[in-house]
Amino acid sequence: MTTNASSRYHDVHAQSLSDPEGFWGEAAKAIDWIVPAKKVFDPSVGLYGRWFVGGVLNTCYNALDRHVAGGRADQVALIHDSPLTGEVRKFTYAQLLHEVQVLGAILQDLGVGKGDRVILYMPMVPEAVVAMLACARIGAVHSVVFGGFAAKELATRIDDARPKLILSASCGIEPGRIVQYKPLLDEAIALANAKPDGCIVLQRPQHGCDLVAGRDHDWAELRSKAIAAKKSADCVPVLATDPLYILYTSGTTGKPKGVVRDNGGHAVALAWSMWNLYGVKPGEVWWCGSDIGWVVGHSYIVYAPLFHGATSVMYEGKPVGTPDAGAFWRVISEHKAVAFFTAPTAFRAIRKDDPDGSFIRKYDLSQFRTLFLAGERADPPTVDWAEKQLKVPVIDHWWQTETGWCIAGNPVGLGQLPVKHGSPTVPMPGYKVEVVDEAARPLPAGAMGSIVIKLPMPPACLPTLWEQDEHCKEAYFNEFPGYYKTSDAGYLDDDGYVYVMGRTDDIINVAGHRLSTGGMEEILASHPDVAECAVLGIKDTIKGEVPCGFLVLKAGVERPVADIEKEVVALVREKLGPVAAFKLAIAVGRLPKTRSGKILRGTIKKIADGDSWTMPATIEDPKSLDEIGAALKGRV
Ligand code: COA
Ligand code: AMP
Repeated sequence: MTTNASSRYHDVHAQSLSDPEGFWGEAAKAIDWIVPAKKVFDPSVGLYGRWFVGGVLNTCYNALDRHVAGGRADQVALIHDSPLTGEVRKFTYAQLLHEVQVLGAILQDLGVGKGDRVILYMPMVPEAVVAMLACARIGAVHSVVFGGFAAKELATRIDDARPKLILSASCGIEPGRIVQYKPLLDEAIALANAKPDGCIVLQRPQHGCDLVAGRDHDWAELRSKAIAAKKSADCVPVLATDPLYILYTSGTTGKPKGVVRDNGGHAVALAWSMWNLYGVKPGEVWWCGSDIGWVVGHSYIVYAPLFHGATSVMYEGKPVGTPDAGAFWRVISEHKAVAFFTAPTAFRAIRKDDPDGSFIRKYDLSQFRTLFLAGERADPPTVDWAEKQLKVPVIDHWWQTETGWCIAGNPVGLGQLPVKHGSPTVPMPGYKVEVVDEAARPLPAGAMGSIVIKLPMPPACLPTLWEQDEHCKEAYFNEFPGYYKTSDAGYLDDDGYVYVMGRTDDIINVAGHRLSTGGMEEILASHPDVAECAVLGIKDTIKGEVPCGFLVLKAGVERPVADIEKEVVALVREKLGPVAAFKLAIAVGRLPKTRSGKILRGTIKKIADGDSWTMPATIEDPKSLDEIGAALKGRV
């Protein structure tokens, strides 16, 4: 068996499954509780049971107050490093707490109470972290919407969450371009049926915006007034099972799913992970290079490092071009980060610009111990390159918005197991990962199938979708009774290593961003000249996958095809947002289908990717695939 004899992993994982209450009850001691849980796990409540039932705590207290009281007041909690503005800002635990107390009071003065939702549509600025923690402090439920989404996506989330307030900023900054958030915010509010009571807008010096009288408040003005009036919000006790946040993620339609995260389980699992999985000690500097709009950003820019008393780096920039392929090494070296977490796509971008890693050698990375990758499959050539260049362990780990933390990883703190390229290694505590066929029968090692997790899922995993228990059951629990369906396909090897090979639904992964092709098809189909369409993910050397749309135009459409192709590209950017990276639409005479009318997506994808393919026996007309091949020539 491939193993590390000194690793505690196997014992720890076995205990977490044989005695979950004992295991997580012990882990819960890392959290300060106002009232400890009456039951560590209660199988009789919720969709599959709930963790820490009866427990009372405050998430913000655990992230800030207790560290200030416990001797970390002057330790830096948050470093904001922005090559896009040229600024580095640092907040000690005491300073961050002060900011959060002030904003918490402002939110309360504007009528936000326990359980009320607050949407944050913000760029990567420290105020966004302050806002998340301020919501947690007063028991409000935040919902962060990624800045790369368009107004319509924001509107959908406003309608679902019905926020009391929206916090936003005048602009985000992308290389070479200012993203004006305010017009998007105004349009979203106009589109939404649920209107917020008000908005708080952070004016950034790079681009200001007009405020809507009677609705919008200037962030800085409210802050100065609140400080002058010595306003400060106390921590509001909440139940462990109360929601901390809602995070929307792509589902199989244009309507995103509102994943709910609770307070108690989230705090326990995340606190456990910082040492045991990531091998980071309190007081050390940790950098997660994601965006706060994604789950990775929620968990590992904001909550986990702060629960743990570490210093978290927040980065507003890109891996390349801000200003060069040495940006990551500059940040790691300047802030003395011991571990870094990013997506493989970022490494592919760096490798393309700096194949020999010459930028790496310009920086002192002597304190840097481990690189963690997630968000998409870490392809072996990228892992191999990173290992050779950085000469530290490169750890792939697999998780989802729904789980909130890692499902399978390599636990550095417990004792790292041997790395096998192409595998995110082994299930973390509480996760019993199995691979099954369509009838939920377990498959032997090496056989590809649906990856499922035996219920109950460990703490931090979604208890439900926001106000949608039935939809949650249907999306995750009904198909394989007794299991959570990950919608990922893959296999386990003889050593119990997990291999995650791709999705079983219509989700594609573009530069580590999770997107629904079904959602894009809904947009394409709304174009007046489009009769039928299919969107699929095709290979991209940097982003892993990019969407490609095939259009069949309505009979009688005589406008230039190129114009229509351009219009649908613009439409996806307008309706879904630039993050979709939808740049390729190709009009074809017809879509290849089976005799029963199913579009042959798999075969079209193989043709587009230049992979070998065979003519499906069920095809309606074999010539339709030749036509697709011809249409793709010179376009991909
Ligand atoms: N606000 C507004 N627009 C945004 C945005 C934001 N927060 N984030 C991205 N965009 C825009 C980009 O400007 C780009 O627009 P363009 O079409 O005008 O160029 C588009 O959305 C696509 O962005 P992105 O996917 O970031 O591509 P990129 O070409 O700018 O950069 C990478 C490519 C690989 C460098 C980048 O995707 C990356 O660093 N990815 C890592 C992802 C990650 O950390 N994921 C989290 C999981 S761990
Ligand atoms: P998200 O919910 O945005 O975090 O995306 C989750 C999806 O990304 C998973 O269901 C996988 O399809 C994919 N994913 C994330 N991390 C990995 C990984 N390490 N290996 C393979 N796929 C991954």
